[in-house]
Amino acid sequence: MPKLRYRPPVPLLEVRDLRVTLQTARGPADALREVSFTLERGGTLGLIGESGCGKSITALALMGLLPEGAQVSGSIQLEGTELTTLSEAELCRLRGRRMGMVFQEPMTALNPLHRIGHQIAEPLRLHKGLSAAAARAEALRLLERVQLPQAKARLDAWPHQLSGGQRQRVVIAIALACGPALLVADEPTTALDVTIQREVLNLITELVRDDRKGAGMGLVLISHNLGVMADTVERVHVMYGGTVVESGPTAELFHRRAHPYTQGLFAARPRLGLARGTRLATIPGRVPELADLPAGCPFAERCPRVQDDCRAALPPEVTIAPGHAVRCLHLDEGFRDAAHALAATATATATAAGPAGALSVPSLPVSSPVVPAVGTR
Ligand SMILES: Nc1ncnc2c1ncn2[C@@H]1O[C@H](COP(=O)(O)OP(=O)(O)OP(=O)(O)O)[C@@H](O)[C@H]1O
Ligand code: SF4
Ligand SMILES: [Mg+2]
Repeated sequence: MPKLRYRPPVPLLEVRDLRVTLQTARGPADALREVSFTLERGGTLGLIGESGCGKSITALALMGLLPEGAQVSGSIQLEGTELTTLSEAELCRLRGRRMGMVFQEPMTALNPLHRIGHQIAEPLRLHKGLSAAAARAEALRLLERVQLPQAKARLDAWPHQLSGGQRQRVVIAIALACGPALLVADEPTTALDVTIQREVLNLITELVRDDRKGAGMGLVLISHNLGVMADTVERVHVMYGGTVVESGPTAELFHRRAHPYTQGLFAARPRLGLARGTRLATIPGRVPELADLPAGCPFAERCPRVQDDCRAALPPEVTIAPGHAVRCLHLDEGFRDAAHALAATATATATAAGPAGALSVPSLPVSSPVVPAVGTR
């Protein structure tokens, strides 16, 4: 009788060594380099970083909505399907059914010439083949699910008749219409009033949590706001210069910030309780233009610890705790020791398991003392 082989479950989303080259006024330039991450069903993952570090380009790459002329290499797999090689028509089908996106500005996502009920019903008719009446009934159910007040009366409203927060709820309803496996939200609350921001974020969090009982929709959330990340996502990926410079479980990364950029980003955040007149720390310099990105560590021009070897090549990822990885050649001593200890354990495990699979880490010179753990906000 043939033996049944164990097949590990396919992750919801697996991005491996993603590189995106865009056409700029100064010629082709890499907007993303060696971006890798995995999102399980029902999982939540956040991308943070300064303006221009590649967060939206990552989101657009996932959705297959990159600017014309963009070249993509590496792999993006959604539920085991490779997206980078799909035709535009295939991607279009998948976008409506399996992926939903919420953009920063709801007015640009909605068509001002169509009533909102029609806009929610459209993907249901197109991708699920529902009749007009069934799609309208489902549109109402979705508006109620995103807690739009007076949902029934508002089915026939025009986008301009709604407030910004209400419009964003409609955009979320459209994104959820076909029950996507993946929801990508790019700064979904930045254009809203502060009071509404919390409501919309709570809504997104609740929707993802509710879905865990069912198919387990995954969330990729983009935000500048570290507090939002702390409250909303399980894993955080810090981006700089088109690559992920640090990633880890949210609580672990917030308390043990290892990359000099992450440390600078947290030091620069405004916080309650600072003494009057306290000047916030800033990271000197600016995020480089794409065409000016250095070949080596993208943070080299602004890093207080830069050394000559930082400029040679993109630093490899080093694991400093389970699931916590950093791209830096000159980590604090404590992090460096943790990386070596983990690598030694992994090597011992691999050796015990058999001849294949020994691991190695690059040698990591010590450059400065351990930074103490600090609270999240
Ligand atoms: N269509 C385009 N053509 C050329 N370069 C682009 C294009 N879109 C974005 N870029 C460049 O790609 C880099 C990353 O942009 P991206 O929009 O991903 O930044 P971001 O992290 O989302 O920033 P923000 O927080 O301001 O939204 C930037 O240098 C930007 O100028
Ligand atoms: S690799 Fe070098 S330049 Fe880059 S963050 Fe580390 S110390 Fe700074
Ligand atoms: Mg953006």
